[in-house]
Amino acid sequence: MGGPVEELRTTQQISWLDDLDERGVIINPNHELYGKSIAGTELHFPSASGSTVGSDRIVNLAVHGFAPKRIVLGRTDPITMWGAILGKVDIEVEGTVPKAVDRSKLEKLGIDAEIVDFLVRAGGLLGTDEFIPVDQVQIAGVSYKTITETGLELRRYFGSKYKFRSKNVTINPAGMDLEDWQEQGIPEAFARKQEEVIEIYRKMGAIPTITCTPYLIGSMPAPFTDAFLSESSVVGFANSVLGVRTNRESGLSTLLYAIAGYGPRYGLHLPENRNPRVEVHVTCELKGVVEFSLLGYKLGELVRGRIPYITGIRSRPTLEEFKVLSAAGAASGSIDLYHIQDITPEATAQLIALDKIEETVEISRESLNEVKKKLNTGKVEDLDLVTFGCPHASLTEVQEIASLLAGKRIRAGVKLWVCTSRAVKELSTKLGYVATVEAAGGNVVADTCMVVAPIEEMGYRTTATNSGKAAKYLPRFCHQHVVFDSAEEIIRRVVE
Ligand code: F3S
Repeated sequence: MGGPVEELRTTQQISWLDDLDERGVIINPNHELYGKSIAGTELHFPSASGSTVGSDRIVNLAVHGFAPKRIVLGRTDPITMWGAILGKVDIEVEGTVPKAVDRSKLEKLGIDAEIVDFLVRAGGLLGTDEFIPVDQVQIAGVSYKTITETGLELRRYFGSKYKFRSKNVTINPAGMDLEDWQEQGIPEAFARKQEEVIEIYRKMGAIPTITCTPYLIGSMPAPFTDAFLSESSVVGFANSVLGVRTNRESGLSTLLYAIAGYGPRYGLHLPENRNPRVEVHVTCELKGVVEFSLLGYKLGELVRGRIPYITGIRSRPTLEEFKVLSAAGAASGSIDLYHIQDITPEATAQLIALDKIEETVEISRESLNEVKKKLNTGKVEDLDLVTFGCPHASLTEVQEIASLLAGKRIRAGVKLWVCTSRAVKELSTKLGYVATVEAAGGNVVADTCMVVAPIEEMGYRTTATNSGKAAKYLPRFCHQHVVFDSAEEIIRRVVE
């Protein structure tokens, strides 16, 4: 019943985390659909970019009556698909007919009938009836800020019925430091909800790593094995740097696959889908996390869903440079896999075919400078929060920031967080780095980060970061003005 459904079309990807508000209105001024509401429409778009908690955002929109009536995707996109499946929104991939999946095969694997229903639906949309054992899983959608009450309700439901059949289930950062949330200034009501989310995952059998860099604390599958990862920066890092085979799963798909113990084999699990489609030639020397963040950000803007083959990088990036490159590329576009000539494993082992490359584009120093300018929306004199560790800081990064702060004092009115995993924080405490940061007036904050903590609710308005991913999400998702620069430069300008 009802009148005709309005059709909305865009050739641009949609980032469910920060392109629209909670009433379904597009708030990204650079988006073709800026100012339009997607509520109740038939929405045609290529695929989702950015955050893997996008599925939760779709479910939230659906629960509150602001979701599209129908979604037509240009290509397979698990983030949007799983949001639509769990939010009961009609969805199709343009020009495809859902694959028939034999549910009896899944039932014979001992999977609960309710979960089988979800897998049959997902397999149909993803175009596969092959399901493989799921051993290594990283679940995003842990911060109460990102999943909201709707997401908590969903997890309460699944947590009350199921345990994970998968063995190695790790989880993403939460919305607060679970031990020092009061000192961090987190509102108590938020903290209680957050504790409940973590408790649900723990009871289901997750390992409470609570970090977006599980690969820095010993949790990562072996090269050329299949994994199901739903932290977008981990997806890029695992596929590209470690040679692991994973799609950019959604927080909800990994939850369901970990319950089932099986997941669909499609997309980047298949070697033939890992070939690059576009060559990106970098014409300048790059060094440091800011420059590699800028490269990732620009890549994401340029290649839009295609796998890039990067040439012109002459020296091997450091672990930290790979980390930020992967994070920024996933956030600004949807880069789940990149190859770097003579550097990344599939490129060096010549496991990829280069004859599928459709075009070559260049990235110059000027284009990176333009990105840097665009990401800087705030003023240093207005800073009230300085943050490092997106993705979560390595031990080396904590040590570097401690040395930059040694013997100095952060000016009054400015908080400084070095965000990292609990494991790295503990080691940093033993090595004296935490004491040095604290002596300067800063904090090493574990389990959380500047994006998924409720910083806007805590009164922060201008935040500094050296991460392209954080600089992407802070403006619209956290309502921050952003100062984006190197740790050296930011610290130089906020210490007395
Ligand atoms: Fe990790 Fe938060 Fe950045 S989850 S990748 S530190 S936005």
